[in-house]
Amino acid sequence: MTHLDWGLQAKTVIVTGATGAIGRAVAQGFAEAGAKLALIDLDQTTCDTTALSLGLSHRGYAADLRRTAELPALIHRIESDLGLATTLVNVAGIILRTPDLFSVTEKDWDAQHDINLKALFFLTQAFAKRLADTGTPGSVINYSSQGAMSGGLSGSVVYNATKGAITTMTRGMARSWAPLNIRVNSIAPGLVDTPMLQTPGQTQSDRDAMIQSIPMKRLGLPEDHVGATVFLASDMARYMTGAMINVSGGFLMY
Ligand SMILES: NC(=O)c1ccc[n+]([C@@H]2O[C@H](COP(=O)([O-])OP(=O)(O)OC[C@H]3O[C@@H](n4cnc5c(N)ncnc54)[C@H](O)[C@@H]3O)[C@@H](O)[C@H]2O)c1
Repeated sequence: MTHLDWGLQAKTVIVTGATGAIGRAVAQGFAEAGAKLALIDLDQTTCDTTALSLGLSHRGYAADLRRTAELPALIHRIESDLGLATTLVNVAGIILRTPDLFSVTEKDWDAQHDINLKALFFLTQAFAKRLADTGTPGSVINYSSQGAMSGGLSGSVVYNATKGAITTMTRGMARSWAPLNIRVNSIAPGLVDTPMLQTPGQTQSDRDAMIQSIPMKRLGLPEDHVGATVFLASDMARYMTGAMINVSGGFLMY
């Protein structure tokens, strides 16, 4: 046995939110580790272009993950195209900022919970069911946030409630499925320099203040998340489940 082996060669890995900033970077990392990627996001053309940019063995799947009734069929389609998927990386998510909590609407609440939490649960359920039915080990990596611990900045309270729930659910799934050898872990990014971090009217001094709040004195980049994500999916993390890895430049430490 070698110790430093990703063990991901020719394995099928599903990445959601795969044409977004972090999803795209993470997908590239898995491609470099030799995996076959199923890239899920909203737009077929962008999914296809992203898949092609990573190589010929990858495929794009347009899906609105909020349509939970369609998720088992999506998992089956990926399996017939690329083989049984053994890793699922749940990156897809949205943020709707409302600085005044008195202005939060039920519509905004549902929109964030539907994709960030409900879709993540039911896609993971469909994915893990195939592993359970076939007696195959696998792993899930859920994208949480430092906001799960901080409660959130700049009007992100509802978004961070979904991220807190993801952290909790990761632990529950990990405990439930450990006997099946399905590992479930999460990543908590900090302040990452993607469109999601931008708020209306944000100034350079707001940006500088964010940078000053990070011990490593720079915003995160999408590619900063690749190593931790690929590691959690890999055989090198074979005894890790229910864990959360902070990828935040030391933003919060807990
Ligand atoms: N950017 C940050 O500062 C930051 C910080 C902490 C956590 N995160 C988390 O990291 C993840 C990725 O963030 P990002 O900055 O790359 O965001 P992003 O907006 O670039 O990517 C998110 C992707 O999810 C997709 N998506 C949204 N709704 C969908 C749906 N219904 N069905 C399918 N796909 C859908 C979007 O099309 C998009 O491509 C998110 O879960 C986010 O909450 C980001």
